[in-house]
Amino acid sequence: MDTREGHGLAVGNPARRYLGDDTLRRLDLPTGESTALPNAAYTSAEFLKLENGRVFARNWMLAGFAHDIPAPGDAIPVTVADRPVILARGPDGAIRAFHNVCRHRGAKLLIEPCRKARAFTCPNHSWSYDLSGKLRMRPHFHGGEKHDVVSGDGHRADLVSVRCEIWHDWVFVNLEGKAKPLAEYLKPMTDRLANYDFSSIRHGATLDFDIPANWKLPLENFIEPYHVFSCHPWLSAFVPMAKRTAPAFEKHCLHCGYHYDAPDPARGMGLPHFPGLPPARANEGIWFVMFPGFAFQVFPDQVVLFLVTPLGPERCRERVVIYFVGEDGANAPEYEKGRQNVIDNWAQLNAEDIGVIARMQQGRHSDGFDGGVLSPYWDPVIQQFARLMVEEIGRE
Ligand SMILES: [Fe+2]
Repeated sequence: MDTREGHGLAVGNPARRYLGDDTLRRLDLPTGESTALPNAAYTSAEFLKLENGRVFARNWMLAGFAHDIPAPGDAIPVTVADRPVILARGPDGAIRAFHNVCRHRGAKLLIEPCRKARAFTCPNHSWSYDLSGKLRMRPHFHGGEKHDVVSGDGHRADLVSVRCEIWHDWVFVNLEGKAKPLAEYLKPMTDRLANYDFSSIRHGATLDFDIPANWKLPLENFIEPYHVFSCHPWLSAFVPMAKRTAPAFEKHCLHCGYHYDAPDPARGMGLPHFPGLPPARANEGIWFVMFPGFAFQVFPDQVVLFLVTPLGPERCRERVVIYFVGEDGANAPEYEKGRQNVIDNWAQLNAEDIGVIARMQQGRHSDGFDGGVLSPYWDPVIQQFARLMVEEIGRE
């Protein structure tokens, strides 16, 4: 008997009951007859568990920012795929990731960022680990006043490493450890960004938003420009709908872009541009969603990144991280106004988006919606996002 039907998802696959046979049948139809993911994919705690285990744990996930741990001994706790993880910069300057849990009785080790630390010490029985994750000291381990002092490598109780790679300021982890190299994962995007010298960018601002919606909705919204005329009418004055093209995709790389006739105070005007950017890119905006979760936008004078972390099936945190070009672009007083224009623009855009994103989440409790009727012109990328989700969650 054929056990694979409906987009290759095995009959026994646990994701099937949330996705539904109708969705699976329609996924590969032409977009106008197809559909996106059904309600349960946005509302079910069980579905989020499957995403954590099958999608986030297996793929490269942006976990944090190198600028948050600038010096040796700096470390931050982060959450990836609902797992606690530490990102730490060791005495050698290298950034490493570990499962954030003491090897003795399983207490979470780090609960807030630390600066210039020499060790992580568990408050439970004071086991301590160095910044490379090596076990160093277990007080009273062999009885009262009989301490265990550890030197050297490869102890059974060392912290468990998490595979970690860095691209510029962005620290990625792959919990399962079997993903292809990070450079390969990013290649469809980096190939399209060959003219941009990302070593020139500096962190400018971070904006946090608490969104009452499933994590997928801000990402789907990020990559589709169809809503611009309706949600951000002031932006269709910048680039009218007739000059906007539909997003395209290459496997897990969803991308979109536009050229504008003239820069405005929030894009391309009043701040330094990337050095050596060819004239063809002078008036261009380009953005990406690298499935499952890396959302990245580039203009000549700024880079903006969205990090979306689920806080539950119907709630997520969106961190918008803004970078400017060069030390002057990020810090010089004469560019203060230019920076503020960019920051205010992103704050306004997100406030407008969050309103409709919250409504889309509320709509996912309606029996009148089960995946939606898609635009053949704008929404192939939404269909592709659904396909990628089904493929990843279905992968055995
Ligand atoms: Fe928007």
